[in-house]
Amino acid sequence: MQDGRTTLSKFLIDTLDRQPSSGNAAATAGLSALLIDVAAAIKSISAMLTKGSLGGNYGSAQTINTHGEEQKKLDVATNEVFVQQCEWDGLLAAMVSEEMEDVYAIPSDYPRGDYLLAFDPLDGSSNIDINGVVGSIFSVLRTPQGEAQDAVGEAAFLRPGYEQVAAGYAVYGPSTMLVLSVGNGTHGFTLERDIGNFVLTHSNIRIPEDTVEFAINASNERFWEPPVRRYVQECKDGRTGCREQDFNMRWIASMVAEVHRILMRGGVFMYPRDSKTPAMEGRLRLLYEANPMSFLVEQAGGLATTGRERILDVRPHALHGRVPVILGSKNEVERIARYHGEYDRGEDKPYTSPLFSPRSLFLPDFSA
Ligand code: AHG
Ligand code: MN
Ligand code: MN
Repeated sequence: MQDGRTTLSKFLIDTLDRQPSSGNAAATAGLSALLIDVAAAIKSISAMLTKGSLGGNYGSAQTINTHGEEQKKLDVATNEVFVQQCEWDGLLAAMVSEEMEDVYAIPSDYPRGDYLLAFDPLDGSSNIDINGVVGSIFSVLRTPQGEAQDAVGEAAFLRPGYEQVAAGYAVYGPSTMLVLSVGNGTHGFTLERDIGNFVLTHSNIRIPEDTVEFAINASNERFWEPPVRRYVQECKDGRTGCREQDFNMRWIASMVAEVHRILMRGGVFMYPRDSKTPAMEGRLRLLYEANPMSFLVEQAGGLATTGRERILDVRPHALHGRVPVILGSKNEVERIARYHGEYDRGEDKPYTSPLFSPRSLFLPDFSA
């Protein structure tokens, strides 16, 4: 760029299309164009959200999505924006969204490509009513080799997160930012509204390995497993407890906003396994929430685990399957994973006291 700034298009073309050292140019052919279309969807959504209740898109859509949650008009409208901006370009074979029950195959009036897009068009949508921060999350996979582009079904999406070729989110805050990774670090772009460009403002983001900030919905405490209760209790004990330092807590109720804070200054975010809804493994969806965020966090030097397994290694079983999520600053996430291991091996001395024993009245029943 003549003004010395790097736009998203320049970044993608330089990174994906003009890097002989990146080896397999064929493997990423078209990816920059696809990501530019995703960015176009994000710009439209940003403009829509900025109008607030004047935009006519507030309130309930009076429909229930595949998770049994009431859809807001904006959940539906933002989903539509993603579909319309990305279905025509000949780069995708199919899409999956939080707001669509089944795989959305690209209609036959458009050419099909061999990328797959999974997305959460509006994350943290309960924040809409209070003019709080919301986001969009997306993940890009390639169709499995040998799979015909016109026959892509559910199985094509049920792949571990380490196979993602790109992942990112948009955070719609005081400014709109797009944070993405194509596997060479995590990079942040800020939307210059008057021109309509995303400009690289946060190159190669690194998450500090240590932190004294954690985020969890503490109203669920009675449903948590002992290792999570132990970790949070130790943080709350602060300077006078075994951690010998004070911690701070945040909860924005939008994973995008939490992950963005962690990328900017460190921290830990947890939506762990709980017994609130025993049939569910966690709150957050693997394909379009946990996997893309874990990819971005790992690319920035952080870690992401279920407590017992690296999230990017989890084998999905269902399009909308859920997973426990613990991610952020490396040393804290390692500590929480260690607490899970100690608990599972019965080595968790303070928490095998009668108060926290598996039969205690104080503990949820995970046997179901
Ligand atoms: P969504 O709005 O896409 O359904 O996602 C909301 C998710 C996540 O972003 C957030 O961390 C969590 O749900 C909030 O859960 P609580 O309602 O328990 O606060
Ligand atoms: Mn979400
Ligand atoms: Mn959502």
